[in-house]
Amino acid sequence: MELYLDTADIHAVKKLARILPLAGVTTNPSIVASSKQRPENLLPALYDALGGTGQLFAQVMADTAQGMVDDARKLRAIIADLVVKVPVTPEGLAAIKCLSKEGIPTLGTAVYGAAQGLLSALAGARYVAPYINRVDAQGGSGIELVNDLQSLLVQHAPQAQVLAASFKTPRQALDCLLAGCGAITLPVDVATQFISAPAVTAAVEKFEQDWLGAFGSKQL
Ligand code: E4P
Repeated sequence: MELYLDTADIHAVKKLARILPLAGVTTNPSIVASSKQRPENLLPALYDALGGTGQLFAQVMADTAQGMVDDARKLRAIIADLVVKVPVTPEGLAAIKCLSKEGIPTLGTAVYGAAQGLLSALAGARYVAPYINRVDAQGGSGIELVNDLQSLLVQHAPQAQVLAASFKTPRQALDCLLAGCGAITLPVDVATQFISAPAVTAAVEKFEQDWLGAFGSKQL
């Protein structure tokens, strides 16, 4: 399974790369904008923060297929093996087809529907990113979307895989993993919630108190 962080926070990537089995970092234009750093500065810094290894994802900004292809080439000139995120619009689908022919790996993003996601996979996308929380927030079901998409990809586009995205709670992410998603990207706060629980901290503190009470020091 591939676990990604969805962030441009270099400090957080460094910190979490030490303790989590991170496969890499995903970004989107809003995330990059929040860092106030241009991609040519940000992307190499994120790569360094990962320890000089791992997969990076960044998104095109143009709204025509040709513009998206040009953006993809610019992004790949910064990080050679970057996966290019392309919104699954009509122009995005045309761009994914062109990029696939060139051998440039893509992720179909902004996926709110299973058929929309399948089309990006059929166009050649390596990953498809359904927006779980955004679908839930609209009154839909992110997990139903994931289940439908997984099933469609297995049957019709087995070269592509779901990279579930847009999470606000650990439960949403866990449900996607239980549904068989092979890749997810978590914002820093959700990743942190997975590994910091007050009950766990309290349990460890109690072990420490009991040990100190008996032996006076923490030494084994
Ligand atoms: C993934 O492709 C998206 O960039 C991202 O996960 C969206 O997350 P958000 O809904 O929290 O903005």
